[in-house]
Amino acid sequence: MAGLFIVLEGGEGSGKTTQARLLYSRLLAEGHAPLLLHEPGGTPLGEQVRRLLMAERGSHPGMEPVTELLLFSAARAELVSKVLRPALDGGRAVVCDRFTPSTIAYQGYGRGIPLSTIHTLNRLATGGLASDLTVLLDIPPEEALTRVSAQRSLLVEGQGEASGHSGRQDQEGLRRFEQEPLAFQRKVRQGYLKQAKADPARWLVVDGSLPSERIGEVVWERVKGLLSKA
Ligand code: TMP
Repeated sequence: MAGLFIVLEGGEGSGKTTQARLLYSRLLAEGHAPLLLHEPGGTPLGEQVRRLLMAERGSHPGMEPVTELLLFSAARAELVSKVLRPALDGGRAVVCDRFTPSTIAYQGYGRGIPLSTIHTLNRLATGGLASDLTVLLDIPPEEALTRVSAQRSLLVEGQGEASGHSGRQDQEGLRRFEQEPLAFQRKVRQGYLKQAKADPARWLVVDGSLPSERIGEVVWERVKGLLSKA
């Protein structure tokens, strides 16, 4: 039996990680055997690449866009062949926090690498694997920045987790906002919206400023429909 492949996408501070976890928990509660993955990561090599990318972004913000693209692609190739495909072949529901649409949005629309190059690398890394559903949590970058900053303030005041986001993510999210100008975040958002518009049957765009529980319900309604057909 072929499994179900669901991808969560969105810009920094969009809440996609929270939603990926909610969906995973819901699938688990409904008796499925889901797998929760995030990109870059999910394999020993992928986690090393993640650390390299995040650390390099901080200490060497001048990393070549092509280097960045190749690193994300390398991590993805490992994840797809070693973890993702075997899970889907085994009939599991896989929830992935970011996938190829991130590369199109960030390295393509954001960094300006030709989309044809991104598509070639995405195909190479995935062998053509595409999601059954991609959920985009759409939120204006200004709003997301306010949200991430507010969460950091709460953490700094020692109140721990806020709105289901871990401290680590809030800190990382804010760092990336500080590194990338708002103009970059806006291009990324447009890149996502264009992808969703081009393939409405496989994309679900949800207003990321809605309460987390409401978003969870909207996502679950759609996933439930797909599970009944699987
Ligand atoms: P996240 O773990 O908070 O989702 O952060 C991952 C970061 O990496 C985020 O800034 C988006 C970026 N990214 C890309 O630029 N291209 C990609 O292909 C992927 C998967 C992530």
